Amino acid sequence: MKKRVLFVDDEVIVLYGLRRVLRCLEPEWDLCFATSGREALEVMASSPVDVVVTDMRMPGMDGAELLLTVKERYPDVVRIILSGYSDPHLIFKSIGSTHQFLAKPCDPETVRKTISNAVGLRSILSDEKLMRVVSQLTTLPSLPNLYLEVLQQLQSPDVTLTKIGELISKDIGMTAKILQLVNSAFFGLSKHVTSPVQAARLLGLDTISTLILSVHIFSKFSHVKMPGRSLKQIVKHSFAVGTLAKAILQSADQSRKNCDDGFMAGMLHDIGILVLVENLPEQYNQAVVLAEEQKLSFFEAEQQILGTTHAAIGGYLLGLWGLPDAIVEAVAFHHAPSVCTNLDISSLTAVHVANVQELLMHDADYPVAETTFDLDYLQRIGALSQLPKWEEICRNTKTTEVEL
Ligand SMILES: [Fe+2]
Ligand SMILES: [Fe+2]
Repeated sequence: MKKRVLFVDDEVIVLYGLRRVLRCLEPEWDLCFATSGREALEVMASSPVDVVVTDMRMPGMDGAELLLTVKERYPDVVRIILSGYSDPHLIFKSIGSTHQFLAKPCDPETVRKTISNAVGLRSILSDEKLMRVVSQLTTLPSLPNLYLEVLQQLQSPDVTLTKIGELISKDIGMTAKILQLVNSAFFGLSKHVTSPVQAARLLGLDTISTLILSVHIFSKFSHVKMPGRSLKQIVKHSFAVGTLAKAILQSADQSRKNCDDGFMAGMLHDIGILVLVENLPEQYNQAVVLAEEQKLSFFEAEQQILGTTHAAIGGYLLGLWGLPDAIVEAVAFHHAPSVCTNLDISSLTAVHVANVQELLMHDADYPVAETTFDLDYLQRIGALSQLPKWEEICRNTKTTEVEL
């Protein structure tokens, strides 16, 4: 079915320009236009849309207010701001309701790519209820002590951006959020950034403090006890998978950027589990119990209970947040790389291998599906012969214990 995309801008000439450059997409998309927030809501009330792309500064209802209303009324709609005006105050106001921020002037190819990535992701996660849950998320839970430490640091007289960045990089939820902000054009940075330390330095102390202390971009994990693996165990596993994935990519002579993406993809690969624990705790519990009772892998149990997996949920979230494609792909397919059409050695390859190998190196009885390499996939991308070498690299790579 054609996707319906609504553009909102008070300047008719801007809408006219968008219509002209995006006309070639009309076979794929149904484009509609509105010149005010109010008119946009009328359009949405008369017929549903999949994506809203709005200007920020408009008379009457501004873009931030419009997206907040859209978030409340139509939570599963993808919400994007396309604005030439970056008043920090308006940006802070819109962060909670905006998935991505594009800066004007923006070439049509970037607009097209951003929208098609966001709508394309919907096929990963076909369940509407889950899509709504994920689209509504603004933060992901963090380890309580790390969260408190970040707050304390910000109030201490000798706070440094490096220290803040290092604390953030020990936490899955905080890392994902900070990368969303730097990789989107929220603050006019729009670079490919995959390190929280670099992200903190780019944003600067004032912005970081406002984001954390007033805009509350981070939140504390509310489940003191969770069934199955603890959050600490998940963080340690994720950190180790990131380190191993990077080592694998380095051994395959990948560029520094690809190696860094691999680390970040490993760090974030199980982020969907956090989404489930915090937002659908009952189904999460059922999946944990089912996996234990029937000796299934966690993703097989999730598939039975939810009809999808934490991998798809995590990939969908990070895609909506505009994280680099290589990371989204690795997260979405880490348990089933064969589904992915990319035939290169990539972050996905490294995270898949590192995840299985990391579990195999523990002296524990994991279900078979959890500890099985996808040999067909490795064969198809021409990497099967490298597997023994990669296993060896994983065994010999020291994964520094994160202090949590
Ligand atoms: Fe996983
Ligand atoms: Fe994992």
